[in-house]
Amino acid sequence: MPATAATEPTITALVTGASSGIGAALAALMAADGVNLVMTARHGPEMEAMAADWRQRHGVAVSVIELDLARPGAARELAAEIDQRGLAIDYLVNNAGFGTYGHFAATSVTETEELLRLNVEALTTLTGLLLPGIIARRGKIMNVASTAAFQPGPHMAVYYASKAYVLHFSEALAYELKDTGVTVTSFCPGATATGFQERARMQKAAMLHLVKMPSSEVVAGAAWQAMRAGRGVVVPGALNWLLTFGVRFAPRRLVTWAAALVTGPGAN
Ligand SMILES: NC(=O)c1ccc[n+]([C@@H]2O[C@H](COP(=O)([O-])OP(=O)(O)OC[C@H]3O[C@@H](n4cnc5c(N)ncnc54)[C@H](OP(=O)(O)O)[C@@H]3O)[C@@H](O)[C@H]2O)c1
Repeated sequence: MPATAATEPTITALVTGASSGIGAALAALMAADGVNLVMTARHGPEMEAMAADWRQRHGVAVSVIELDLARPGAARELAAEIDQRGLAIDYLVNNAGFGTYGHFAATSVTETEELLRLNVEALTTLTGLLLPGIIARRGKIMNVASTAAFQPGPHMAVYYASKAYVLHFSEALAYELKDTGVTVTSFCPGATATGFQERARMQKAAMLHLVKMPSSEVVAGAAWQAMRAGRGVVVPGALNWLLTFGVRFAPRRLVTWAAALVTGPGAN
């Protein structure tokens, strides 16, 4: 049985990066609350398995679109596919993203281009293409940034800068849309236990050994709550909040130095 009462309007949410981690956990919470879903990522079978489970358990409609959003033009292809399937998106969650670890001079330029296409370009293009429909339906947008958005990040320079873009773009968009009924949430989690660290090849980074990382389920719970409430910038976790607040008052060189300490290789 869907958790949503029959009288409530049916909501359809597009979640990018829904095959694992925060995106999958968030999609699970939405499905349990009766939200219909469009899931997208590269790993189709993983999403199909979750979709089958949620259709059966929650009675929601779930569409799966297998796509590499880091390919040039992929965000436009996704929007066209959504259109072709006759789906109307009320809630957009731009969650897909990845990081690369190491000095920029030693990082593959091709991988950097893919990162920027996924974390920045696809997020922006999808928002632009779906926005007219979202405004018409007074929907919601949530862009997954990071605590990385608040300062420069030596050892992960492009990733940190990509998340600063996500945060600033989302805050400005929230302001521009304030009279439309559309809310834009900038969700900024700190380090979370997902496949992110392995893909970024950052297992040795000191930050991962300083505090225990929360699970994707815990972080997704905070994200869903924030999006439903239409909140603006949300940094889950007291320590994360304190750190992102604190950097406002410290000299930028000191902030960059401190960031390099936590992103740099740890003792072990
Ligand atoms: N984990 C953290 O510590 C942390 C902290 C702050 C912010 N974040 C942000 O949270 C978001 C979700 O990350 P996560 O931690 O949940 O990591 P994750 O478990 O690695 O999930 C990333 C998701 O993005 C999808 N994705 C990656 N490359 C893609 C591509 N080329 N095309 C389409 N989809 C792609 C992945 O699916 P496929 O592999 O199937 O394509 C997966 O579903 C990201 O934006 C990340 O920057 C993470």
